[in-house]
Amino acid sequence: MTATPTETLESVRAAPLLQRALKPVVFVLACGPAAWLVYGAFTNAIGPNPIEYIIRYCGDWALRFLLIALAVTPLRLITGWQAVGRVRRMLGLFAFFYVCLHILAYVGLDQFFNWPAIWADIVKRVYITVGMAAFLTLVPLAATSTNGMVKRLGARRWRRLHRFVYAAAVAGIIHFLMMLKTGYVEPAIYGAILAVLLGVRAVKKWP
Ligand code: HEM
Repeated sequence: MTATPTETLESVRAAPLLQRALKPVVFVLACGPAAWLVYGAFTNAIGPNPIEYIIRYCGDWALRFLLIALAVTPLRLITGWQAVGRVRRMLGLFAFFYVCLHILAYVGLDQFFNWPAIWADIVKRVYITVGMAAFLTLVPLAATSTNGMVKRLGARRWRRLHRFVYAAAVAGIIHFLMMLKTGYVEPAIYGAILAVLLGVRAVKKWP
């Protein structure tokens, strides 16, 4: 059955609408975990150890957003849905936002901005060192996420630099694994997802 001219016109109008709605919808959804945390904090629903809860919750979401951002290109390559590429940078910045909250909670709520103690922790506890390495890898990526920086660096150099996001994700998962004494299922799942995402990119053409 062929589409009538009216139906064709409607589908042409609907496509840009979907594309225009994508960014605000993803933005609101990505704010969800932070809003949920604030709600939980105000309703005393974040357990008996709220500081640990906040650090872990933000760490979890940082890693999830890193993986979600990394899933955009494979999704585009597999489905051919080009518009999804528009939210990749936003998702990466949300990963950085949750990492910053994670670190801020650790530095401010857990360590009370006691810089010598924080430094001692970074040096002594290897999982914190690895977390710090992951964070420092993400900083230049967040700093060069604007259109102006893409222009200044040139698309090729920019893309090459932004491949370090994989290293940050690997370090984030190792950081998670190292802090655990038992129950490695969750980081193993994140690791498997990252391996699949890397595999898809290796098999499909690099954009
Ligand atoms: C890309 C960077 C990072 C990512 C993706 C990340 C992610 C995570 C994840 C997933 C957890 C475990 C959460 C859970 O138990 O469910 C965690 C724990 C933790 N992270 Fe990070 N992290 C990063 C960087 C850092 C940095 C730079 C620091 C400190 C300077 C840090 C401090 C901690 C601490 C202290 C815990 C354990 C909290 C506890 O024992 O209760 N993280 N992180």
